[in-house]
Amino acid sequence: ANNVGILAMEIYFPPTCVQQEALEAHDGASKGKYTIGLGQDCMAFCTEVEDVISMSLTAVTSLLAKYKVDPKQIGRLEVGSETVIDKSKSIKTFLMQIFEKSGNTDIEGVDSTNACYGGTAALFNCVNWVESRSWDGRYGLVVCTDSAVYAEGPARPTGGAAAIAMLIGPDAPIAFESKFRGSHMSHVYDFYKPNLASEYPVVDGKLSQTCYLMALDTCYKYFCHKYEKLEGKQFSLSDADYFVFHSPYNKLVQKSFARLVFNDFTRNASSVDDITKEKLGPFSTLTGDESYQSRDLEKASQQVSKALYDAKVQPTTLIPKQVGNMYTASLYAAFVSLIHNKNSELAGQRVVLFSYGSGLSSTMFSLRLHEGQHPFSLSNIATVMNVAGKLKSRHEFSPDKFVETMKLMEHRYGAKDFVTSKDCSLLSPGTYYLTEVDSMYRRFYAKK
Ligand code: ACO
Repeated sequence: ANNVGILAMEIYFPPTCVQQEALEAHDGASKGKYTIGLGQDCMAFCTEVEDVISMSLTAVTSLLAKYKVDPKQIGRLEVGSETVIDKSKSIKTFLMQIFEKSGNTDIEGVDSTNACYGGTAALFNCVNWVESRSWDGRYGLVVCTDSAVYAEGPARPTGGAAAIAMLIGPDAPIAFESKFRGSHMSHVYDFYKPNLASEYPVVDGKLSQTCYLMALDTCYKYFCHKYEKLEGKQFSLSDADYFVFHSPYNKLVQKSFARLVFNDFTRNASSVDDITKEKLGPFSTLTGDESYQSRDLEKASQQVSKALYDAKVQPTTLIPKQVGNMYTASLYAAFVSLIHNKNSELAGQRVVLFSYGSGLSSTMFSLRLHEGQHPFSLSNIATVMNVAGKLKSRHEFSPDKFVETMKLMEHRYGAKDFVTSKDCSLLSPGTYYLTEVDSMYRRFYAKK
């Protein structure tokens, strides 16, 4: 199979959200801390009628209907998630309800979990399957679904929620350049979920930021090596049109891109201009460790990378800024933002993505885009996803109501024997919602 990659995409995020400016005031944080300091505008969250299973049911059903894909045509279904509802039963098996109805139970794949990286693992599994000898000619389907919630404190404004479904096959408008991949995997405790009684992670915020940037540097190094080996020339930022990052909050994305510019400078890549050389010169003698601690380097590199950031990264930031960290879906929501903003203009262009999951697992990989053929075309993907419409029809909750919802969700997490309000008035038609968890912890959903 040639040009294996993403044929179609759909995104779903809860219509319920809280403005970061209001949350800032409510939390007693200094004005601008969440909006400018973290770079976030708004945050989506699940109310008691939504969860990662309902969101993924919605995303998959909608994708199949809108691109007119028969459920029988799916031969592999992989889910990436770090939101644990059941320690044994995969989210994938819940999604089988959609396929069983049409008589298709011959579908490989289960869930992949490692913090925000599970979606990328699922995506690679599906792409590798289509590229392999065990491929049976049918489509792969990848679902990234997470509800990111934090205990009260500095991490809480970095939550979010969404599900993204991606159809995988040959002759894709979004094709993998599978040879260009650099990974970095390591044992660290930066963000983890050892307490199975709580949905909230244990997080060492500062360590997680440094781990993220170190993983980025290492992946970029391996990525450049592989490119150079295969293409016989140096890779620099000028060799890709867009860079898409896992986006816990936008400030980290700004710092990440600046870090790549610093990497190009230290590798003496041809693309670095004279002003960048001059401004970053004083930092060329820093050791690796020192470079992660230097505020002056951070400032100088952000300053020299500003114009390039606006061109190569800014178009990817809309949904992560508006919805928040969506864990496994975060990187792909950034990519969805790019398709929403540029659609057909992306034909012929190269997009480099960086996936990071705490603990840690990370990969940088490359995509080559083509216009594609209806319904699997860049312009149709943008139309189907209707990002602007989905953002516009949201309902803002006050911070008090948001906190109240979080308290209720804490009670409900891991609980049994309850019925929800079944109030789906805020959900759009076609959305799945949770109605009941019975005395055997079995979960039931309905579709609006
Ligand atoms: N106006 C403008 N900027 C402000 C203001 C203000 N009033 N107040 C603070 N800031 C800036 C700070 O200077 C800082 O920016 P800088 O890093 O460029 O200096 C930024 O706002 C954040 O302020 P901090 O004091 O560093 O924030 P704090 O330590 O309270 O929390 C953190 C931030 C650590 C990111 C926290 O939200 C967290 O733990 N989040 C979850 C972990 C996470 O997302 N890690 C990323 C990778 S792992 C993953 O994806 C889960």
